[in-house]
Amino acid sequence: MEHTLMLKRELEMEALGMRIARALPCGGFVALYGDLGAGKTVLCRGAGRALGLDHLSSPTFTIVQEYPTAPPLFHFDAYRLADEDELYAMGYEDYLDRGGLILMEWADRVSGALPKARLDIEIVGSGADPRRVRLTPHGAAYEGLVSEL
Ligand SMILES: Nc1ncnc2c1ncn2[C@@H]1O[C@H](COP(=O)(O)OP(=O)(O)OP(=O)(O)O)[C@@H](O)[C@H]1O
Ligand SMILES: [Mg+2]
Repeated sequence: MEHTLMLKRELEMEALGMRIARALPCGGFVALYGDLGAGKTVLCRGAGRALGLDHLSSPTFTIVQEYPTAPPLFHFDAYRLADEDELYAMGYEDYLDRGGLILMEWADRVSGALPKARLDIEIVGSGADPRRVRLTPHGAAYEGLVSEL
């Protein structure tokens, strides 16, 4: 049930993030994969914009940025985490329980801690090249979401 898109511009990546956030009004979990500069944060910025944020910074140094939107947005960046234990040590399970929209950049760093029901988004490409975006839903709710998109 996976779905592949080609996105030529940053604005299209942002628009995809907006559509995903709008399709998840009660929160959810989006795991983002892709190299440095692939466009993960651009997609997250779009999701934030859909929730009314005009600024979303990269949480690399803080691991998680929390925004008081509705639903609340929790933007994680696992790049600097050695393993899942470091994520649990920051109260990750409490974040999972708060009914927010969780966006996890570098989800492969913490693959053992990802919820079973989630949307995986893998972005391939860099620089000014188009990005190949593969959406893989896990669980019925996310399958519905991907077919809507
Ligand atoms: N089609 C596109 N989609 C997304 N970003 C694009 C596209 N074309 C060019 N870009 C550029 O690629 C860069 C993507 O940067 P971004 O910070 O989103 O990457 P990232 O995947 O979050 O990297 P990091 O792993 O460092 O956090 C931006 O500078 C953006 O302008
Ligand atoms: Mg990023």
